[in-house]
Amino acid sequence: MIKGVIFDLDGVLVSTDELHYEAWAKLARELNINNYTKEDNKAQKGISRMESLEIVLKKGNIAYTEKEKEALADRKNNYYVEMLDSLNDSAVLKDVKEALAMLKNRGIKIGVGSASKNTPLILEKTGLEPSIDAVSCGIDVTKSKPDPEVFLVAAKKLCLPPNECLVVEDSYAGVVAAKAAGMKSLAVGPERKLLEADYDSETLLSETDWDLMLKISYNF
Ligand code: BG6
Ligand code: MG
Repeated sequence: MIKGVIFDLDGVLVSTDELHYEAWAKLARELNINNYTKEDNKAQKGISRMESLEIVLKKGNIAYTEKEKEALADRKNNYYVEMLDSLNDSAVLKDVKEALAMLKNRGIKIGVGSASKNTPLILEKTGLEPSIDAVSCGIDVTKSKPDPEVFLVAAKKLCLPPNECLVVEDSYAGVVAAKAAGMKSLAVGPERKLLEADYDSETLLSETDWDLMLKISYNF
C-alpha cells in the first residue's frame, strides 16, 4: 500500500516555473544570449541550479571558469528570490490544497522532494508549510534528479520505505528519479503524457484515481 505521497515543488505544488524562466531569461539577455527560449527551459525542469545554468550557457559561445559560473548562478538566484518577494498563496496550483487535505484525511503522509534550495522559503510564503510532513530539497542532497537521492531522503524523513511512496512530478528527470528510487510515479502538468510515469492525470482531485494509486502494493 502507498502510505506517503512525495510532491515535486516547482510546477506541481506552485507556479514558480514561470519565475525560474524569467530569471534565467534576464541573465541570458545580460550575457547577450538571445536565443534562450521556453523550449530550453523545459530541459531545466527538475535539475539543479548549476546544471540549469549550463543549459543557458550552451546557447552562447563564451567559456566561463567555475568561479564565474558560480557568480552567474548566484546572480540568477538573486533575480529569482527578488521575484519570490511578492509570492503568496495565489501561486499554489489548482486543486493542490484540496488534494493535500484529501490525502491527510486518508492518513497519507505528505512529503516534498525538490531540487530547489529555495523550497523552505516558497513553502513558507505560499502557506503550504503546515500541510507538509517532511521536506527534502536541494539543501539536503549532493546529487540531483534523475538521481533518486532527493526522494530517498524524503522517504526516510517520512519514516517510510520507498515502495510505500508515490511521487508526483512534472519533469522527465523527476520521473526517472522516482523510478530509480523504487517509487511509483504520477505525472502532472502540460508534458505529463510524455514523461513515461506509471500514471498521469490532468487533475489532482479525482478520488477514484487516488484510490487506485494508493491501493497499489508491489514486491521488489
Ligand atoms: C527545480 C526546478 O525544482 O529546482 C529547476 O524545476 C531549478 O528548474 C531547480 O533549476 C533548482 O532551483 P533553485 O531554486 O535551487 O535554483
Ligand atoms: Mg517540477
